[in-house]
Amino acid sequence: MRKKVTKAIFPVAGMGTRFLPATKSVPKEIMTLVDRPLVQYAIDEARAAGIKEFIFVTSRGKSALEDYFDHNPVLEQELRKKNKDDLLDILKGTNMESGAIAYIRQHRALGLGHAVWCARRLIANEPFAVILPDDVIAAETPCLKQMVEAYEETGGNMVAAMEVPPEKASAYGVLDIKDDMGSIVSVNGMVEKPSAEEAPSNLAVIGRYILTPSVLSNLNKMKSGAGGEIQLTDAIAADIGTDNTVYGYRFRGQRFDCGSKAGFLQATVAFALARDDLRDDLMRYLEDIQQIGKAAE
Ligand code: UTP
Repeated sequence: MRKKVTKAIFPVAGMGTRFLPATKSVPKEIMTLVDRPLVQYAIDEARAAGIKEFIFVTSRGKSALEDYFDHNPVLEQELRKKNKDDLLDILKGTNMESGAIAYIRQHRALGLGHAVWCARRLIANEPFAVILPDDVIAAETPCLKQMVEAYEETGGNMVAAMEVPPEKASAYGVLDIKDDMGSIVSVNGMVEKPSAEEAPSNLAVIGRYILTPSVLSNLNKMKSGAGGEIQLTDAIAADIGTDNTVYGYRFRGQRFDCGSKAGFLQATVAFALARDDLRDDLMRYLEDIQQIGKAAE
């Protein structure tokens, strides 16, 4: 019987420079798609996949994130007094059970691999998930749940993979595929940020992982990789060919890169259009501006 995946690491210690000046004082993960912070989407996805322990790797200036998960008795009482039960339910959905959430500091932004390594003592000897909250995935079955189900078959390490056109490969880690089994692929290697010509496939790694503790041992031994940062991809790739080999998982769903402004805006529109209370007005507005654009051509 495989050990169940019940712990997830959320690395949120990056500086979010692409969203300056907002991120001078607001953590990127607190920025909202419609009315829910990015981090709430990540937590909901983790819960749906059976995660019970939520480990945040944070840094200076992220205290708003910690406050977000606290109970707010004054606000709850106020909503109760006004019989705003629907809002009360929304608020309660953000409360975390005592002891379910832990915060670890990454003192210097030395890369994603280093951020994950900072949480090593809370993981110990179990498989664990890593979720990057700025990758938001709209899916009928939440992406991590799909991966947990696939992992129960394969074991090893599993990375979420998405098809990208060659000219976009340089923004991702790209899989060198060994066997293509449909939604699951086994891999020969992973190339970080290849040029279009060097990309070994069109399958790019995005921000969902299920990893074995051996990745933490690999990180223990690692020096910095591409860009002077300690790369998570390198530590995962070091397991290829071992008993903990690496699989890519083609998830079903749409991923939005909310770490970029364009991706964030697209996600905002997509999530607003999925809402009954917003769809019609927004649709009308989008049609209007399209007409104006056409008239101006
Ligand atoms: P990004 O590469 O998107 O970096 O990190 P960033 O700092 O958040 O944003 P920009 O590029 O400056 O705008 C991907 C994920 O890895 C985390 C980030 O918080 C984000 O969730 N990360 C990155 C860390 O936790 N620590 C690091 O040292 C680097």
